[in-house]
Amino acid sequence: MGRIFSGVQPTGNLHLGNYLGAIRNFVQLQGDYECIYCVVDLHAITLWQDPTKLRAQTREIAAAFIAAGIDPINSIIFNQSQVPAHAELAWIFNCVARMGWLNRMTQFKDKAGKHRENASVGLYVYPDLMAADILTYKATHVPVGEDQKQHLELTRDIAQKFNNDFETDFFPLTEPLIFGAATRVMSLRDGSKKMSKSEESDLSRINMTDTDDEIAKKIRKAKTDPDPLPGLDCLIENGQFEPAFERARPEAANLISIYAALAGVSLSAAIGETEGQQFSDFKRLLTDVAVEKLAPIGSEMRRLQDAPDHLDEILRDGRQRANAIAQPILQDVHQIVGFLRP
Ligand code: TYM
Repeated sequence: MGRIFSGVQPTGNLHLGNYLGAIRNFVQLQGDYECIYCVVDLHAITLWQDPTKLRAQTREIAAAFIAAGIDPINSIIFNQSQVPAHAELAWIFNCVARMGWLNRMTQFKDKAGKHRENASVGLYVYPDLMAADILTYKATHVPVGEDQKQHLELTRDIAQKFNNDFETDFFPLTEPLIFGAATRVMSLRDGSKKMSKSEESDLSRINMTDTDDEIAKKIRKAKTDPDPLPGLDCLIENGQFEPAFERARPEAANLISIYAALAGVSLSAAIGETEGQQFSDFKRLLTDVAVEKLAPIGSEMRRLQDAPDHLDEILRDGRQRANAIAQPILQDVHQIVGFLRP
């Protein structure tokens, strides 16, 4: 059986993109893999976080995992800072990864923006910590949204260089698992931008804790274009959108993808159903399915967050189980690298 590792940052505003691109897939993979799901608080502080909010947001992600259907008995749920092996292995990987590799990371460029000199060093080495998260457990597969693909390629490069440098085959070359109809959910206000936790306008995203009315309002206000919904000729053979269509009608492509993902149908089935509709009608359909699928998760999240002791108990249990896997692997790494254990 393969081993899955994946993580979500506790930076607030957990949204539909996180759910469709990642968390929903975490749930589905549970039967086929040993699964470890982490609230990555060490990653969160690469941008300053209010300490009180960070604790609440850590519980929020744990609640979302459970409310979405991750079973904390079979899968491991914990927060990253509580398993020291992550930070320790990250240091070793800081010494394996090359500056040139990190300089190519597009997420650093996006997040640091024009103020590169002012970004934290942690933000720069963020991908090394991500590689450490995964390889501390020798995970074989990592489910993520499309935006994390480059970081997973770096994880493979780090594993490979470590193996070469120390003449070993210790670390596996991890496979990304990027699947579903919505691997890259875009902003509801601008189809060329990714839906994101940090976007200022709350209308740009559907949060997992939004009420039915908020979901309806955000879909009603979502940007569209004047044309009716497209027919099947906007797809290419592999069932994905024609790139020219996506460029010309990014908002339409995004809303159709979200609909297909929520309804649990393929893009071609969604398009077959909605071809020729006006956006006003389609938005009603989308609202119905969004409320039907998301409202129960949101209300279960609220219920769980009202019982923080129960969430903490789950995180404590997860911490122990995660440590039990990570510690012996880290000891092997010490041995390989040549650290003396007197
Ligand atoms: P984070 O917290 O930004 O996002 C969590 C997951 O949600 C996916 N995602 C999206 N998927 C589709 N459309 C979107 N608009 C969208 N926005 C976010 C992300 O791809 C991710 O899967 N670096 C990671 C956290 C991390 C991690 C790891 C992941 C730390 N260590 C080890 C995997 C393995 C991140 O930024 O997640």
